[in-house]
Amino acid sequence: MGKYRVRALAIAAGALLLGGCGERKQEMAGNVRVGVTCYDLSDTFISELLDCLRDTLARQEEISVTVRDAAGSQRTQDDQVEEMIEEGCRVLCVNLVDRADPSGIIDLARKHNVPIIFFNREPVAEDLKQWDQLYYVGADAKQSGTMQGELAADLIRSDPAIDRNRDGKIQYVVLEGEPGHQDAIIRTESAVDTLKNEGVELEKLSWQIANWNRAQAQNRMTQMISQYQTQIELVLANNDDMALGAMDAYGKTNYTESEIPVFFGVDGTSVGLEAVAEGRLAATVYNDKEGQTEAMAKLIQAIISGQGMEELSFQDDQYLYLPYDKVTKENVSLFPKK
Ligand code: BGC
Ligand code: CA
Repeated sequence: MGKYRVRALAIAAGALLLGGCGERKQEMAGNVRVGVTCYDLSDTFISELLDCLRDTLARQEEISVTVRDAAGSQRTQDDQVEEMIEEGCRVLCVNLVDRADPSGIIDLARKHNVPIIFFNREPVAEDLKQWDQLYYVGADAKQSGTMQGELAADLIRSDPAIDRNRDGKIQYVVLEGEPGHQDAIIRTESAVDTLKNEGVELEKLSWQIANWNRAQAQNRMTQMISQYQTQIELVLANNDDMALGAMDAYGKTNYTESEIPVFFGVDGTSVGLEAVAEGRLAATVYNDKEGQTEAMAKLIQAIISGQGMEELSFQDDQYLYLPYDKVTKENVSLFPKK
């Protein structure tokens, strides 16, 4: 399913991007600058999404792309936005460092009439409503948590050995993303609620924040293992990198396979998909970077040309949300791997 949807979207986007550019292309070949700034390019998912965006925009000859890495500093990102506007960027794509603090950027963009497409880190609604040339492209956090919960419930039902101590409950821990990120708390809540609604009895042993980061997750998991030893039966991680970090922590113990919990992630990064294919990661939820970047490219094209806005499926006029997809060992080969 996933593959066909991804592919259909890509084809639709491609057709749109190719169509109707003829005259305009001559007029401004390579001349339309698009500026992109990312919150932190050491983030696995964001760097893969950026590669995708670059590839997608490279197919549009009239566009040249400038990329900046804010490396975790909102001040740096504000400066980058200012510079990119001065350099003549016509559209900006902003992956906010602090999703609650976009006002500096918004004021600047508005003053110079440069539309902004925020992506992946969603500004609060009041901020996006400040100007009608602000957009957001991303995905619905709740859906990713629900899918993770469903995947975990399916596996728990089909494999009684997951409840190792046979007490009828699943002892679990959570590795959570950055505090304040729309995808962190919501993923956890909806995954846990879904498991409960599916009739799985749960016992929460602990939860730890690991800021989307593999090394931090390894660290936190090591602490939880020393506290709970072999009691942990399920690890729910808000993203693949943290699930992999948790697996790294178990790799350093001498527990046998039957003493190691099952792990679930979100994203379907290259390493995540590989771990699913090898059966180390029980399942993940695909964060559709191809769909998201195609939507961004279509939006950029529509902004530049003043045509095609009506073909985009906006929610509340300014939001484009792409659906997630479940990834298991059975369908993992259908997902794009680098
Ligand atoms: C992804 C994480 C990523 C974060 C960055 C989330 O949607 O699932 O892997 O670290 O976005 O903002
Ligand atoms: Ca149990």
